[in-house]
Amino acid sequence: MRRQEDLNFGWGFRPAYEPGWETTGLPAEGVETVDLPHTNHPLPFHHFNETDYQFVSSYERTLRLPETDRGNRLFLRFGGVMTACMVYLNGDLVGEHEGGFTPFSFEVTDRFRFGEENRLFVKVDSREIKDIPPFGNVVDYLCYGGIYREVALLVRPQQFIQQLFVKTMEAPSLLDTEMLFDLRALLADKNEMDAEWTIEVRTGDTVVFTQDGEGKVSGEFSFQTVISDIRRWDLDHPNLYEAVLSLRREGETLDRYSVKFGFRTARFTTEGFILNNRKIKLFGLNRHQSWPHVGFAMPRRVQERDAEILKFELGCNIVRTSHYMQSDHFIRRCDEIGLLVFEEIPGWQYIGNEHFKELTYRNLTDMITTHFNHPAIILWGVRINESPDDDEFYQKTNDIAHALDDSRQTGGVRNFKGSHLLEDVYTYNDFSHTGDNPGLVRPITVTKVKAPYLVTENNGHIFPTKSIDHEGKRLEQALRHLRVMDDNFQHEDACGAIAWCMNDYNTHIEFGSGDRICYHGVMDMFRIPKYAAAVYASQQRKTPVLVVASNMAMGDYSGSRIPPTVIFTNCDYVKVYRNGLYIDTFYGDWETYPAVPNPPVIVDDYYGTQIRDNERWRPGVAAQIKKTLVAFQRYGMKLPLKDKLRALWLTGTKQFSFRDAEMLYGKYIGDWGKEGSTYVYEGYIDDVLVKTVTKGPARKATLVAAVDDPVLVPRATYEATRIVVSLRDEFGNVLPYAHDVVEAEVSPELAPLGPTSFPLVGGSAGFYVRTVSPGKGWVTLRSEGHPELKIEIEIQ
Ligand code: GAL
Repeated sequence: MRRQEDLNFGWGFRPAYEPGWETTGLPAEGVETVDLPHTNHPLPFHHFNETDYQFVSSYERTLRLPETDRGNRLFLRFGGVMTACMVYLNGDLVGEHEGGFTPFSFEVTDRFRFGEENRLFVKVDSREIKDIPPFGNVVDYLCYGGIYREVALLVRPQQFIQQLFVKTMEAPSLLDTEMLFDLRALLADKNEMDAEWTIEVRTGDTVVFTQDGEGKVSGEFSFQTVISDIRRWDLDHPNLYEAVLSLRREGETLDRYSVKFGFRTARFTTEGFILNNRKIKLFGLNRHQSWPHVGFAMPRRVQERDAEILKFELGCNIVRTSHYMQSDHFIRRCDEIGLLVFEEIPGWQYIGNEHFKELTYRNLTDMITTHFNHPAIILWGVRINESPDDDEFYQKTNDIAHALDDSRQTGGVRNFKGSHLLEDVYTYNDFSHTGDNPGLVRPITVTKVKAPYLVTENNGHIFPTKSIDHEGKRLEQALRHLRVMDDNFQHEDACGAIAWCMNDYNTHIEFGSGDRICYHGVMDMFRIPKYAAAVYASQQRKTPVLVVASNMAMGDYSGSRIPPTVIFTNCDYVKVYRNGLYIDTFYGDWETYPAVPNPPVIVDDYYGTQIRDNERWRPGVAAQIKKTLVAFQRYGMKLPLKDKLRALWLTGTKQFSFRDAEMLYGKYIGDWGKEGSTYVYEGYIDDVLVKTVTKGPARKATLVAAVDDPVLVPRATYEATRIVVSLRDEFGNVLPYAHDVVEAEVSPELAPLGPTSFPLVGGSAGFYVRTVSPGKGWVTLRSEGHPELKIEIEIQ
């Protein structure tokens, strides 16, 4: 029976290579024992030299199988090795691979010594080798070196099923609960064999379809049927099924292979994107698969977690795997939780020589054949991101994609208008929004012809924003994402928009803020949200969101003039109180953001009825005075004409003076030199109070920490999780200018994935730990002036 031996623990690693080591083995000195995923050179958070990880290194490991396994076929499978590698078994070269993003495997049956120790040696070249995509010109991301994904030895029977591809389709004669199920199996080496076969389709323990047959099973075996009573895979109900093909001869199982899939249809049209006959406006973010210190080398749980963050914390319905094929764990999790994926081939603006093109065809083939069965994937990216037109090259990539998978459309990301459209969908990076103009251009001005259209990037480098930036800047980043999103919802004929990007990322010297970071994320590199994250989070209705994008500290603003408060929320309305006094109830700003599902609530009036109730003016005049003061707070001396005229009328008729204005502002708003006010914001959904935020003068700073996964279950390799530490005031708000230093101590069951001494950045910091051994692990966090915190993590 088929099985897999995981080869992730206990590799010998040397950050060097010398000819001959593949046969002699690594010289004993200087060998470090490492586990996979592994980064060949842990990096500082920023301010490093990216050539530090661009070198040739050696990995070595022994493996053994008992004599009883003789007769099986053996394959070494690598999930991802950056950039190129040569694999040796017992001193013999068994295969070479170029390109760091796709998995590959080599058969080693003939060279394997059963019952004895075998030595596996991998020479890894992590330099930026010209004409291995994405390399050849500049690239705005890093391709960290090493064997950064898992490795396994696949044990297979002599004749086995190599791959199973499952498609589902609708037909006019079928009900919504019925679909065509199309299974295609590839037998290893396209063998023919006499066998009895069984196809079973199940969900959990329930078998929904089964059929037997016998006779010749040839190299490519296909089977079609209609399956009834199915539950479709969609965003809210990501129902997954399993298709199992078993081959038997005379009652004995030859091979049995199963894949997960979902019943669904997905189509980009000129009217929008249609999932299972329902139109869905796509909105989401681009994701780079990198983390501080370890680069790409993160195990399953942290990969999965990114999908969960995108779906549940950010409320997105789509992610683009910019700009390469991403981890199987990430894609599988997208299936499980209902997050759509646009997956694309590696590259960045540059098209290289023939070799580059050949590798691109291979990257595309490997991506499609590996991730074929994932219902979450709805579009294959078959162009090098932002590369120029090259009709011959891209006709071929389109042909390859369509030949391998006629159930999915192709896209190819451009940064210019009127490109030759060889794909099914015109996918375009629209960076036109610069703050005071429309969020997106009209689709037809880009495509020139009527075509399905998807915006694949916006914002990003147009407005880089750090979590340590001034509040006003962080708010403007959020509003820019919002303006783009509003246009995305307005453009009926556009399928959606995917913004740049989910998280900040380390990059090359040519890009970013000079410290090797592109601060383009709606979250930082640790996936800690900036205000812009709340623009996305507040569009869903499942989890209440009430993010008050201000600390209400007027002294933080020029002239102490605090702007109107923007609240990103999915609540129906927000009740506002100042120092215990009810001010008013505020609703979403539909006028400014007419199209997004949940526009922000903007609080621009903290006077409420106080002038009318407490002061000497008649109600009508009091209302005019309030309007004038509110306008002044919003616009300063540059009042719009109608506000200016009102102010002139009030002062001209001597009903109101500048001194009055000062007095009222000082009494009801201005806290400069005073103790400060406390503001309470209550968010209501269906008239039920669902969330309360309090802002006010912070008198207490408390260090708090939380772990993503208090229980870790290592499977094929070690596991990892994130701890987020932040300094918060007595109301629970992060103190955004805190940069206290935190020292972590980690119990022996765990190990840190980064320095154990780190500062808070923008009030928070992330810290990743990995598992070492089973047991009850802990991490203590100390920061001067604060009680020690202890996080417990159970490792099963
Ligand atoms: C795009 C590019 C992305 C990223 C982004 C920054 O042009 O496709 O990879 O560099 O700009 O905004």
